[in-house]
Amino acid sequence: MADAALVAFLRSWLPRLGLRWPGYRKVRGIIGKRLKRRLAELGVPDLSAYEGVLVRDPDEQARLDAMCRIPISRFYRDRATFDVISQRLLPEAAQRATARGDNAARCWSAGCASGEEPYTLSIAWHFNVAPGWPALRFTVTATDADETLIERAKVACYNSSSLKELPPAWRQQAFFARGPLFCLTNDFRQNVHFELQDIRRAMPAGPFDLIFCRNPVFTYFDEPLQQRLTGEFNSRLLPGGHLVVGSHEILPGAASGFARLAPGLPIYRREPRDP
Ligand SMILES: C[S@@+](CC[C@H](N)C(=O)[O-])C[C@H]1O[C@@H](n2cnc3c(N)ncnc32)[C@H](O)[C@@H]1O
Repeated sequence: MADAALVAFLRSWLPRLGLRWPGYRKVRGIIGKRLKRRLAELGVPDLSAYEGVLVRDPDEQARLDAMCRIPISRFYRDRATFDVISQRLLPEAAQRATARGDNAARCWSAGCASGEEPYTLSIAWHFNVAPGWPALRFTVTATDADETLIERAKVACYNSSSLKELPPAWRQQAFFARGPLFCLTNDFRQNVHFELQDIRRAMPAGPFDLIFCRNPVFTYFDEPLQQRLTGEFNSRLLPGGHLVVGSHEILPGAASGFARLAPGLPIYRREPRDP
């Protein structure tokens, strides 16, 4: 498949799905391979013939949308950010939950892939926070639009490459070997609840102390969708709560109600609202 044809196709179709071309520039090879496979399955000769199928068939548009999801993730992904999360954001969430008389601190991992991010939070809480707040529960709601990923997340077994950024002591204590895979023990799984949800259509009610939306929305979604979802995140955060985005992501220009925690950190604090 010629790169120029792929680029023209993506530039034309991504906006119709609420997605943006600049987010896909670097990963277009992945989408190109998926499209090539799909064209072969359908017996369609090229992308312009495939456009005809898309125009006629809304189900095929949903399939294209699914082909545009990028499932890359790792435990403790972006170490510098996770250091701040585990040493500062989680203990602060514990303090706020205790101060408001709550029995739990609550997080949402939006676009959780195969569970690497929500389980990292569970592990970090267990080792860094739980010893100081033994009576406080920690819950993570983890959502993704991809059913296969959610099912994989529930199984919670991973290749060693998924664990390479996790602190070695945590890796040793949280996982057991099963053949070539490393499986998470039950202690770290029971407080993580997975739901199949397309964030454009549904999301958990909350409210949450922390929301993680790292690498689906602010890279791949178009600006109007980013604006709308930023507002939805804001309304689901408890006072003092934080929104964490991907390390190369920033909130859209006109987003209000958030202040960046520090320059260069992909973490935003919910600003106080008028009473
Ligand atoms: C690049 S991964 C990021 C995983 C994790 N948050 C991280 O940063 O390591 C993006 C995830 O977002 C999910 N995703 C993409 N579009 C979505 C949508 N509309 N609703 C919910 N999840 C979506 C994908 O299936 C994928 O698992």
